[in-house]
Amino acid sequence: MRYQFWRRLSAPEQEARITEALKGNIDYTEKVSLGIPASKLDPNVFNDQVSFLKDAPLLRAYVQNPNHIGCHTMGSSETFFRGTQEIEKDVISLLSVDLLGAEIDSCDGYIAAGGTEANMQAIWIYRNYFIRDFGANIDEIAILSSVDTHYSIAKAANLLNIKWLSVPVNDDRTIDEGELDRIIINAKKAGIKYFIIVSNMGTTMFGSVDDPSVYANCLIRHEVQFKLHVDGAFGGFVYPVSRAGNSINFSNKHVSSITLDAHKMLQAPYGTGIFIVRKGLMEYVYTKEADYVNGMDITLSGSRSGTNAIAIWMILMTYGPHGWFEKINKLLYRTDWLCKQLDGLGIEYYRNPSMNIVTIKAQYVQPEVVHKFGLVPDSHQGQANWYKIVVMDHVQVEHLHEFIEEVSLKND
Ligand SMILES: Cc1ncc(COP(=O)(O)O)c(C=O)c1O
Repeated sequence: MRYQFWRRLSAPEQEARITEALKGNIDYTEKVSLGIPASKLDPNVFNDQVSFLKDAPLLRAYVQNPNHIGCHTMGSSETFFRGTQEIEKDVISLLSVDLLGAEIDSCDGYIAAGGTEANMQAIWIYRNYFIRDFGANIDEIAILSSVDTHYSIAKAANLLNIKWLSVPVNDDRTIDEGELDRIIINAKKAGIKYFIIVSNMGTTMFGSVDDPSVYANCLIRHEVQFKLHVDGAFGGFVYPVSRAGNSINFSNKHVSSITLDAHKMLQAPYGTGIFIVRKGLMEYVYTKEADYVNGMDITLSGSRSGTNAIAIWMILMTYGPHGWFEKINKLLYRTDWLCKQLDGLGIEYYRNPSMNIVTIKAQYVQPEVVHKFGLVPDSHQGQANWYKIVVMDHVQVEHLHEFIEEVSLKND
């Protein structure tokens, strides 16, 4: 694969780029600026003269405190933070093209508070799209996604006042196509004409990955309008790497937008959700009342830290595409190792072979084991059916080995 934008940069190269970007932002000590309700971090609290800031471009950016309000891949933006907005634009281009199969300049996007906000942004756009372009009534629109979907979709349905129809899955966590068909037939009978699909690229509990064409084919057969969003908040930095050449991305004409979360697998600071959408769609959530902001305020959050974009950019540039491939494969190797041991013990679990989550049937893990190893249940209320292990960077084979020894003793 030829990468258009993603490459590795040394620490001094990153430093030079960030310094340049910060110079392109307003310097409150040099330029008189009377109108904007912003300043650098309070120097009485956050000492900006400490020597280590010299060698820490990310911390220097924190102190300058750029506000990336708005969306910078389209139209005009606040000029005060032009320098670092360029870095955010670079992050969106790199991820849309080199990770998610988009054509150059075919997508917009921004760094959101998290996966929840990015998912809500998508559903907000499509709800307005159906209302504006098709004259849809709010009760003619429904979200469609699997039972394994993250609860942020239920939140979005509640906030945006639209229905959420949840589709059962088979034992292998794939969409139950018969049930999907039945749900669509019933929804149509109940007056639903427009569907917003949320297809998972790595569910929270199982790491399972939905096939978006199962939804698309079914809705096309039923001759209804739909828009499809991919929730890759967990899997977005794993699946495209472990399954290169897959079509759960912008090369698939049915996919209109994708959520990624840099504060999960990329280990970025919190506040680094990422929303990427095909051009021409962000406009559906334009708030015309936001007159005093230069450019279009078309994101769910208003003010947001520009430093988060720099953090994501640094991580991507430190690894480069090949370094990131190696890192993901190291985690998959550890996950394979764990699954092999569980197989040896006859312990039942679910795992998508391209993902780093292993979800074990609750009957095999006793409360002491759950507590000792910090396993996460599928439900905190009532009886858990499953417990998951997420093989993150800090989860090493020696920890998994200790877990297996304990589980094997307890299941003897
Ligand atoms: C699949 C999925 N989507 C969305 C989210 C929500 O992300 P955040 O907590 O960043 O808002 C999560 C979080 O676990 C997730 O796993």
